[in-house]
Amino acid sequence: MGTKRQFRIWRGDESGGDLQDYTVEVNEGEVVLDVIHRLQATDAPDLACRWNCKAGKCGSCSMEINGKPRLSCMTRMSTFEDNETVTVTPLRTFPIIRDLVTDVSFNYEKARETPAFAPPADLAPGEYRMQQVDVERSQEFRKCIECYLCQNVCHVIRDHEENKQAFSGPRFFIRAAELDMHPLDAKTDRKEYAQSEMGLGFCNITKCCTEVCPEHIKITDNGIIPMKERVVDRRYDPLVWLGSKIFRRGQVPQTSVTSEHHSGGAGSAQSGVHSHAGGSHDARSEAQAQKGVNWHRQVPHPTTPPLDANGKLPLTELTFDKAAAPSPFGDDVTFPLPPEHLNFAHPQQDQPKH
Ligand code: SF4
Ligand code: SF4
Ligand code: FES
Repeated sequence: MGTKRQFRIWRGDESGGDLQDYTVEVNEGEVVLDVIHRLQATDAPDLACRWNCKAGKCGSCSMEINGKPRLSCMTRMSTFEDNETVTVTPLRTFPIIRDLVTDVSFNYEKARETPAFAPPADLAPGEYRMQQVDVERSQEFRKCIECYLCQNVCHVIRDHEENKQAFSGPRFFIRAAELDMHPLDAKTDRKEYAQSEMGLGFCNITKCCTEVCPEHIKITDNGIIPMKERVVDRRYDPLVWLGSKIFRRGQVPQTSVTSEHHSGGAGSAQSGVHSHAGGSHDARSEAQAQKGVNWHRQVPHPTTPPLDANGKLPLTELTFDKAAAPSPFGDDVTFPLPPEHLNFAHPQQDQPKH
């Protein structure tokens, strides 16, 4: 037999809203998402909430529960006192769509802006080889379920809409760190890119992002701080500084990057391209890396799904003639994506197959 518990849930849309009180039955072993589902089945059939897996793996059910960003499907009701009112509000950093559903497009835009993995030009798909230790190092970051709780809690953008353009956020810092640690990534200026284009310098290592990560990724200790250290090492390394004075701008001594390879030379040493010693401004390495990568591609901007006369998302089951909900990329996107919309094009992809 369940017990009655008090809930306060934010109801409203982009034009405003407030907290509404509900008394709802809670049974042993239930999580907050179960209670929201019960409310939808009883007192609040129009309560909007996003979820998919109910297993802590899809990252959809992010919300703020008693002020803390959490996955509602992983928050047990037993963690609250019996007489405690549970307050549920939407993620604060992103625009409200309705009730507990926010528009997290910001994160998809930042994902699109992050340069993709760029394997060396002289390796064909299927020839990539990595040491197990390198696999394990980046494996931690691959656990990310893109729940965006870290993005939501980061004070740089939480109440500062004006910072969003210049700041990609912790989720994408660990993506940059992961690629920076990747021995086969030919784009050697990940940390410089993170600093100059992703707003790494805005982060003052408060570790709030790490605290809320449901995958327990050490975002700051293992991702952000090592990248910041390498940026500083590179900028204040006296040898690099001296080299930049002696050599022309954009070139560094060949102790950190080699230029033994020649474009397209089979078996040429690509160590300049792979180097993680901080050498990122070797012009030839850069040109080689860019050969297979279309960094400045034009990609179609995501289109929002159509809203009804009230400015609300229509109920897909009632109004769409297709089997599934509309694609967040819009209906005019064909798959597979045309090559000009990909941010990695293998150099050999246009060669005729034998
Ligand atoms: S450590 Fe940096 S990225 Fe993480 S929440 Fe703090 S400021 Fe944001
Ligand atoms: S790093 Fe953690 S908190 Fe951030 S999006 Fe990934 S899983 Fe969520
Ligand atoms: S519903 Fe998938 S993580 Fe909560």
